[in-house]
Amino acid sequence: MKPSTIDEGIDEEKLPLLPTPGLRFERFWEMPCKFTFSMESVKSLLKQEMLGPDWIDPFAGKYSPANLQNDADLERESDFHMDGLEFLRLMNLDKRHFDGGIFDPPYSVEQALCSYKAKCEGTAGREEYHSRCKDELARLIKPGGKAICFGWTSAGLGVNRGFSLERIMLVCHGAAHYDTIVTVERKWNTQAEMW
Ligand SMILES: C[S@@+](CC[C@H](N)C(=O)[O-])C[C@H]1O[C@@H](n2cnc3c(N)ncnc32)[C@H](O)[C@@H]1O
Repeated sequence: MKPSTIDEGIDEEKLPLLPTPGLRFERFWEMPCKFTFSMESVKSLLKQEMLGPDWIDPFAGKYSPANLQNDADLERESDFHMDGLEFLRLMNLDKRHFDGGIFDPPYSVEQALCSYKAKCEGTAGREEYHSRCKDELARLIKPGGKAICFGWTSAGLGVNRGFSLERIMLVCHGAAHYDTIVTVERKWNTQAEMW
């Protein structure tokens, strides 16, 4: 009989990066909403995690609690109405720094086209675009500050941008929808902390 690979033992050295000790993990059930922050579980998380007065949100939508908000849609009451990536680049040119950043863009091209007033054929839903935004957002957050990201993956800003994962929240919307995945990460204070 062919031995099962699980019988061959696990090489601990080959295990992927372990999560931060004490990672908080939770799951709620809620109806989906295109305005993510109107969900009770999300409102509660933001209230607990948004410490410090200075928060930036490049895709603010309708219910962002950040004090500096941008949204491409002119109907939103944000401070800026720019493309999210251009807005983040501008803030970096101004050498601004924040206690935290929120990242809640359209999660896919289809969502950008169907649920929001799309710009540039829904580019804001592309993974490559998200990645560029994350590079900019990571620079804008003070050491010790937080990033709260929303989407369909738990990647967040990630280790390579200097962040460690503190909390994951899944919001399940039933079998016909993807969960909303929320990550809370903290930026390391020093390079040494990274390793
Ligand atoms: C997931 S929603 C954010 C919802 C928000 N967190 C809330 O709860 O109210 C994504 C937002 O990105 C905006 N958006 C779409 N394309 C954009 C772009 N290229 N630049 C900036 N904002 C964009 C949409 O208008 C929408 O409000």
